[in-house]
Amino acid sequence: MEKPVIGFAMCGSFCTFRAVLGEMRKIAEDGYRLLPIMSGNAFATDTRFGRAEDFVSEVEEICGRKVIGTIPQAEPIGPQRLVDVLVIAPCTGNTLGKLANGITDTSVTMAAKSCLRIGLPVVLAPATNDALAASAPNLGRLLNTKNIYFVPMKQDSPIKKPFSLVSDFSRILPSVLAALEGKQERPVFLE
Ligand SMILES: Cc1cc2nc3c(=O)[nH]c(=O)nc-3n(C[C@H](O)[C@H](O)[C@H](O)COP(=O)(O)O)c2cc1C
Repeated sequence: MEKPVIGFAMCGSFCTFRAVLGEMRKIAEDGYRLLPIMSGNAFATDTRFGRAEDFVSEVEEICGRKVIGTIPQAEPIGPQRLVDVLVIAPCTGNTLGKLANGITDTSVTMAAKSCLRIGLPVVLAPATNDALAASAPNLGRLLNTKNIYFVPMKQDSPIKKPFSLVSDFSRILPSVLAALEGKQERPVFLE
């Protein structure tokens, strides 16, 4: 049977890019076709973690195709059935908030909306310092939203960063495969 096509969307949690790209490469090497999407911020912001153009080149090299970086490019993803499932890794607090409140003003939120409108699963891998503070209501709402699934996550530094949660990116592929069967990878919260 042919392997599912995975939409792989990245948001601006720049400190996690290295870890996420490592997992993206493994998934590609496993023979999955990946459609890369980056939010405008992820696509264009240079930070102390690296230059945007270097990250974009690396993503394009891993996936063997151009990054989708605009709302018009992302809009056909669902209706034209360009993917079987969408994973957003890393997913920022900003994008969590938008998804929880029906705001569609980036390539990533557009990709999610275009998948959800035809009932495709969307898998979120949050990485945000305010997951247990300002983003907590959004996280809760999305945990209770049809066709939204999560990559298992944990408090990465409970003493120094008491409100932070980061997904275990090594669980992206199992979470995606579970979501394709309508299941949530468990446990959602890791120790
Ligand atoms: C160096 C740097 C690191 C950041 N890391 C994170 C992060 O890990 N998680 C997060 O939610 N936001 C983080 N942000 C903030 C987001 O980039 C910002 O909220 C942005 O609007 C996200 O846009 P997007 O969700 O469309 O990608 C970081 C910003 C900078 C400059």
